[in-house]
Amino acid sequence: MRRPIIAGNWKMNNTIAETKALLTELKPLVKDAEAEVVVCVPYTDIATAGEIIKGSNIKLGAENVHWAEKGAFTGEISAKMLKELDVEYVIIGHSERRQYFGESDETVNMRVKAALAAGLKPIICVGESLDEREGNKTESVVRTQTAGALKDIDKSELDNIVIAYEPIWAIGTGRTATSEQANETIKVIRDVVAELYCRDCAENKVRIQYGGSMNPKNVKELMAMPEIDGGLIGGASLKAVDFSNVVNF
Ligand code: PGA
Repeated sequence: MRRPIIAGNWKMNNTIAETKALLTELKPLVKDAEAEVVVCVPYTDIATAGEIIKGSNIKLGAENVHWAEKGAFTGEISAKMLKELDVEYVIIGHSERRQYFGESDETVNMRVKAALAAGLKPIICVGESLDEREGNKTESVVRTQTAGALKDIDKSELDNIVIAYEPIWAIGTGRTATSEQANETIKVIRDVVAELYCRDCAENKVRIQYGGSMNPKNVKELMAMPEIDGGLIGGASLKAVDFSNVVNF
């Protein structure tokens, strides 16, 4: 059985003061959740978030990580720096990073390797643009992105890997993929994992989330689909009540 995992992606939101308020409100609201609960927060909020959620069932995540151990990479953060702050999960290859910051399948793969080597669990994002969906390229895009991210990753690491299927046209737009569309594309991703590793690995190890305007209203229907193991939540993770209603679907 794959345990559901609901992760918030705060993106570039929340000061330290806002982080304190949001997580203090969130903690009691999600304490009985059956799903694994994660908040991926900006670097500057990690230490504060860690203090507030200590001893709770909320796990800490970051929004990116660099592939090198250290060195001349101005503005970047290493896996070791994140581990020191008890970060457990890290988002890698979000479409906003691919779109605005030149992230490629190759750099995603390098970041995934560095994260795993340091004991961080990557949440690898894949997903097609609207043009690609309308041009019937969804399957080939997610196949390429998934295989690229997992290149030379050992089978023994699969338990620690989460993949998030995020159609770009559904992110922050209020336009959600239908549960059938999300399920169908996640099935393609699972098949890629099966082809690269084994069917059992795909069915029992890797968890695959849906992301893109997931909210308290549509979470139940999406989570009822057999292939969808959780959600990566942007907008709806910024309000404690909304996020808890997604977590407690
Ligand atoms: P959204 O963002 O829920 O605001 O659409 C999801 C994401 O980008 O991870």
